[in-house]
Amino acid sequence: MKLSWLIGLFTFVPTYGLSPADKIRSKFYVTEWQQWEHVNNFGWRTSGVADIELAKAFVKFNGEIQKTPRPPAPALRSSWWQQPQLQIQRIEGMYRTFLQYMRRRAEPSAGSTSSAECLTLIRNVLTNRTRAPMSEVISKLQGSVLKTYQNILQAQHLYFNRSQLCEMQVSPHQLIYDVYNTVAVAEVKAYAMMQFSWMLKMIFETGDVTAVALKARGDFVRGTNMTANETRIALSHAKSDLYRCDPIRHTQGESYDEVTRLLQGYIENEVDMTKDNSCAEKCSYYSVAKNYGCFQDKFCARQSSCKGNIIDCHFVESDMTVCTSNYRSNRRYEWVKYVNGHTLGKETNCSVENGKSYRVQSWWRWLVWHCSYCMCLCDDPADSDRYFSLREATSDIQSNKVVTGVRIIKRGRMFHLQISQATLFKEGLVSQGNWVLNKIFSNTDRNVEEGIDYHTLNYRSRAIDLDDLVAPDGYVLLMYRFRLLGAHLNFNIRATKFDYKSGRLSIDSSTWLSNDNTEISANPRSRLELSRPSLPTLSTAAIPVNSRHDQFMEFTHSSFEADAAQTTVPFIDIQPIQVYRRGALLSGAGVMHRAEPGSGGFLALKLFTYNYTNHVHADSTVYHHYDKLTGTYTHIRF
Ligand SMILES: *[C@@H]1O[C@H](CO)[C@@H](O)[C@H](O)[C@H]1NC(C)=O
Ligand SMILES: *[C@@H]1O[C@H](CO)[C@@H](O)[C@H](O)[C@H]1NC(C)=O
Ligand SMILES: *[C@@H]1O[C@H](CO)[C@@H](O)[C@H](O)[C@H]1NC(C)=O
Ligand SMILES: *[C@@H]1O[C@H](CO)[C@@H](O)[C@H](O)[C@H]1NC(C)=O
Ligand SMILES: *[C@@H]1O[C@H](CO)[C@@H](O)[C@H](O)[C@H]1NC(C)=O
Repeated sequence: MKLSWLIGLFTFVPTYGLSPADKIRSKFYVTEWQQWEHVNNFGWRTSGVADIELAKAFVKFNGEIQKTPRPPAPALRSSWWQQPQLQIQRIEGMYRTFLQYMRRRAEPSAGSTSSAECLTLIRNVLTNRTRAPMSEVISKLQGSVLKTYQNILQAQHLYFNRSQLCEMQVSPHQLIYDVYNTVAVAEVKAYAMMQFSWMLKMIFETGDVTAVALKARGDFVRGTNMTANETRIALSHAKSDLYRCDPIRHTQGESYDEVTRLLQGYIENEVDMTKDNSCAEKCSYYSVAKNYGCFQDKFCARQSSCKGNIIDCHFVESDMTVCTSNYRSNRRYEWVKYVNGHTLGKETNCSVENGKSYRVQSWWRWLVWHCSYCMCLCDDPADSDRYFSLREATSDIQSNKVVTGVRIIKRGRMFHLQISQATLFKEGLVSQGNWVLNKIFSNTDRNVEEGIDYHTLNYRSRAIDLDDLVAPDGYVLLMYRFRLLGAHLNFNIRATKFDYKSGRLSIDSSTWLSNDNTEISANPRSRLELSRPSLPTLSTAAIPVNSRHDQFMEFTHSSFEADAAQTTVPFIDIQPIQVYRRGALLSGAGVMHRAEPGSGGFLALKLFTYNYTNHVHADSTVYHHYDKLTGTYTHIRF
């Protein structure tokens, strides 16, 4: 069978568009077919310039590879990548030599060449055992890449544990896709060298190698088809979400920030919670109360009074020692120690630096009323960081930019959402992401409205919904925001369709996505309960994800026992998330909670990378058998 009878036609073009590597491969099939057409022509082959023409074609195809943008090779450090990388390095080494020769041949002014040099080169590509023939390298590469996928799929289950995936800030899905593109381009290079070597052999030697070349093509088509098939399977099993792991040391303002003094442990004597200074009730009577003064300048004169609501009072003991915190601290008390030794918080030296210690004793009034010191919660918006911006963070859609990263920042007393954005190019590629510093505003600015521009957390409205929002296939992320849904902060994303082949956003199809399920829906959202939470920053371990889609949780106070209820939890993870710290195409985002049992944990954002499964195809070219005599085509299957 002569190769001249084969022609490649693009009869099957996947509607989704090909990955960059698959596109390069299908372009090579055309080059390959055209050049074999020439080589099989005796007149052309013996014209004396045939090898120069081939060299030009090879250099031109190399130009095609260079100018096809593709995802950069993943900077994987682990042993998973060693084997494939070794084979890729072999191919790249051979390719450099081969290209150098072809360049010199294509432009004789660039240096002289001899046919002996050419024949050595061909041997090195096709048969030299010391250098490993390219066919062998390709099949090794195809085997080792499958192991790499397996390792990635296994590692995704321990993503949170400071895994390499997490350190790279990449989803397993994205990583598999990038590995595939890197490997598949190397394979095409190896295969291109093989086919051009046989063509050169036809010119410089007499034997007919078309049968060998044809067999190699069959092997290559089958092998790449198999790899693509396995890649699609791996991609469909790989998780597409990514989030930040815990730093070894948590640093306020850098890795996390806090809502402060939302519901804070507060010592109040009942005499100050009644308008007439009576002490006729028990602490538990004061489930929602106010401060009305400071009777006889007792302990109340040593602390700032709670100007908001005083909530959920209870009685612990009559007499105690209180170590009050430094005025700069968000805490009111370092610790409270009752006479029987029972301590709230961690007892430390109560120095001037840390605070001051006071003896606080309940008293009898007119021998009938016991004026008890109660332990309550104070919900006082003054001096409290408790605002959430309700404004969306959006990419510059008019300039065809998409969201490539997200983060939460605290400025003033408010939490704001920010994005990094990048220009969307064809084939799902994006430029380097840049953080957008959207205008920071404050709840005290003019023309800023509560409920529209921002939300104030309080005892009755302090819930946040925990949702994963992923846009349908073919949509990309443009914006995200919090809005108020009932009394909950509810997370939303906005996504739009885009044309994979051109990279154009189709703005008209953009739409907000949200999970509007509430606690009172038919299938209510489930509550993520924090029971007597401790501070999440105490642990240096990597913290696992504690929440799942369709849950909600409330901001609350830390445990009385462990922290005298002085801190608001969960903390908020403010580490930026951006795939590879550079950005990639995204199709969703979410809010989640990471915590160890008993800890207040961290509220954090997560991202979902674009689903590439449908863009991986190795059989986009269908070969036909062309009968010269009858002029008819029939299918050939490899
Ligand atoms: C095979 O490659 C090695 C290393 O490049 C070289 O020394 C050797 O001469 C080559 N053998 C043949 C038969 O070309
Ligand atoms: C997390 O990784 C550490 C160190 O690599 C290991 O000791 C620990 O067992 C891992 N934890 C889990 C839950 O696998
Ligand atoms: C490639 O694999 C698919 C299955 O994934 C199969 O349907 C198709 O026939 C194969 N193509 C070739 C050329 O082997
Ligand atoms: C592709 O994968 C499926 C599922 O594992 C398998 O049934 C099919 O034979 C594979 N096709 C090729 C060409 O490897
Ligand atoms: C990605 O797309 C493929 C093919 O449409 C689908 O089978 C797979 O479930 C999708 N993966 C995710 C995570 O949505």
